[in-house]
Amino acid sequence: MSEFNINTIVKDFPTLETKIYGKRLIYLDNAATNLKPRSVINSIHEYYSQGTSNVHRGLHYLSEKATDKYEMTRDKIKSFINARDRKEIIFTKGTTDSINLVAATYGLEFLKEGDEILVSEMEHHSNIVPWQLLAKKTGIKIKVIPINDEGEILLEEYEALLNEKTKLVSVVYISNALGTINPIKKMIEMAHQKGAKFLVDAAQAMAHTKIDVQDLDADFLAFSAHKMLGPTGVGALYAKEELLEQMPPYQGGGDMIDVVSFEKTTFNDLPYKFEAGTPNISGVIALFHAIEYLEKIGLENIISYEDELLQYGTKRLQEIDGLKIIGIAKKKTSILSFAIKDIHPHDLATFTDKFGIAIRTGHHCAQPLMKRMGVVATTRASLSLYNTKKDIDELIYALKKAEEIFR
Ligand code: ALA
Repeated sequence: MSEFNINTIVKDFPTLETKIYGKRLIYLDNAATNLKPRSVINSIHEYYSQGTSNVHRGLHYLSEKATDKYEMTRDKIKSFINARDRKEIIFTKGTTDSINLVAATYGLEFLKEGDEILVSEMEHHSNIVPWQLLAKKTGIKIKVIPINDEGEILLEEYEALLNEKTKLVSVVYISNALGTINPIKKMIEMAHQKGAKFLVDAAQAMAHTKIDVQDLDADFLAFSAHKMLGPTGVGALYAKEELLEQMPPYQGGGDMIDVVSFEKTTFNDLPYKFEAGTPNISGVIALFHAIEYLEKIGLENIISYEDELLQYGTKRLQEIDGLKIIGIAKKKTSILSFAIKDIHPHDLATFTDKFGIAIRTGHHCAQPLMKRMGVVATTRASLSLYNTKKDIDELIYALKKAEEIFR
């Protein structure tokens, strides 16, 4: 196990040196996007200052170098999530793009009127709306797996919804709004027993839990770089090779083709069949460094450190009068979502901002979930490996001040 030293980790994230209204930045908005370590930032600078070139297209030195680095990230992801083959990793713009890819290719090609897709009540809009768009085109039905008041999926209800019409289940691994860790492995097994495929939305999971796609037996897994210390606008879709082989291309353009004529076009091999156009090269290369950083610190260390912070934060939040934590699943990680009686979340965020604290308020792109939990919005402090108990103490201090002022 590598060593976890919070003092050196904090120094690796230059944004933490930023002063907000003259105060130390306390960044607790990691579920929206997390900060980037120096190695990630430097790799982007290096690509544009010393290595700009396109990939898969040139025989010149810089193009070959860029291609090698770009493809190294694919290998890195392959081993990080334990995919069988590098062909199973498709670069996309992120989780949303990955889910839309599955809906527009697998969905349009293989799902038909009368088929059913299951999603849970705690999904992000990006795991609801693409299926609704698909339903409009195909006549498939979307069914919703309910959750309990604690924010946990009801497995008996899930079992009852699964039937021979269920063709796909698409569920989030870790909820961005509640922090619930869903029993994904069990859910995949249950879906497979009915012959349904399973898509895992791993956006919030990649930097907070160990993922092994073979152990999970996931058919599809979508994630974003920016929630795992990497840059925005890039991510990936993992899919089993046999599925990718059967799926039609997503977008047409350069790189995804084999031979093009006005009469007929044949497509490139996997994974390139799904990667049309010049990609986000610097973003993909930077993702290598993000994963390398997570590996250097050690996911097991990160998980146990964040768990300690979560327990500490959960305990300290009880000191605030009228505060209710939204999402108290037995298995949860890194998210403290809450509502405080008589104080509007937006007032709270504006107030705490003046203390240099970055938290998010709102529906967290999960409006149906907010409705289920009986709130219009929550205030959310989301944790990452560079946060400290002192950050939480300062949040509690600001919340206590807010209590004095707003009440
Ligand atoms: N889905 C992101 C969040 O949870 C943007 O804030």
